[in-house]
Amino acid sequence: MTSPAAADLLAKLRVHGAVPRHVAIIMDGNGRWARERMLPRPLGHRGGMKAVREVVEGAIEAGVEVLSLFAFSQENWQRPAGEVSALMSLLEEYIQKEADELDEQGVQVRMLGELDRLTPPALKAVERVMAQTAHNTKMRLNLFISYGSRAELTRAARLIAEDVAAGRLTPGQVDEAAITSRLFTADCPDPDLLIRTSGEQRISNFLLWQVAYTELFISAVLWPDFGRRELYEAILDYQNRDRRFGRVPA
Ligand code: IPE
Ligand code: IPE
Ligand code: MG
Repeated sequence: MTSPAAADLLAKLRVHGAVPRHVAIIMDGNGRWARERMLPRPLGHRGGMKAVREVVEGAIEAGVEVLSLFAFSQENWQRPAGEVSALMSLLEEYIQKEADELDEQGVQVRMLGELDRLTPPALKAVERVMAQTAHNTKMRLNLFISYGSRAELTRAARLIAEDVAAGRLTPGQVDEAAITSRLFTADCPDPDLLIRTSGEQRISNFLLWQVAYTELFISAVLWPDFGRRELYEAILDYQNRDRRFGRVPA
């Protein structure tokens, strides 16, 4: 449900300027949210799942074309086994609960990352929701799972090397487009806005290539408390930025 405050912000950002086509979010702070409530960390992740639902709806209402959510990094595999398995179960539960509604809302869901590391049931759920929603065009939801940007770039380099070795590409043809087209995000525009929640001021191996000229927004709010209102505040802030891309303004 859109609260009056969020509805006001939405009306404001619609007249204020262009909505970012691609919004990326590093969803951080679930563990601290749980600790503040003396709850086990997995309950923080459960709280985070509710925030995903609200932010997806808010992004659709605002007219965002691509929403990229960093849900689980390659480095996160090194967390305690209990937390990793709780996160995998939550991923399955999220898909189970939300797939039909995402489909009805016209969302195309894509899971990006080294998916072969997922448990077989989680992988099956991931493949099911991607197939079910593949035809949708209202908004694209990229969920980054088992993702690391350096691994993604390394994979692109390997694919290029294979093409060169096989004679399909010459070294002189290796340009920026050759790299971009071999990333998981090949068919998406670069993010216009990258939000990180919980106050941390780092990229944590997310979309290193793609954020070259992305506007950054750090929110102090912990991810489970993040919602439409916070999303719209970030977009309004973005609309006040002067994106120069290295040039001198006309
Ligand atoms: C983000 O919350 C979710 C994942 C990285 C999976 P965290 O679990 O990192 O929460 P904090 O940073 O410990 O508060
Ligand atoms: C980044 O959060 C990864 C995700 C949000 C999925 P982390 O909590 O893992 O990052 P660090 O360890 O604080 O850099
Ligand atoms: Mg964290």
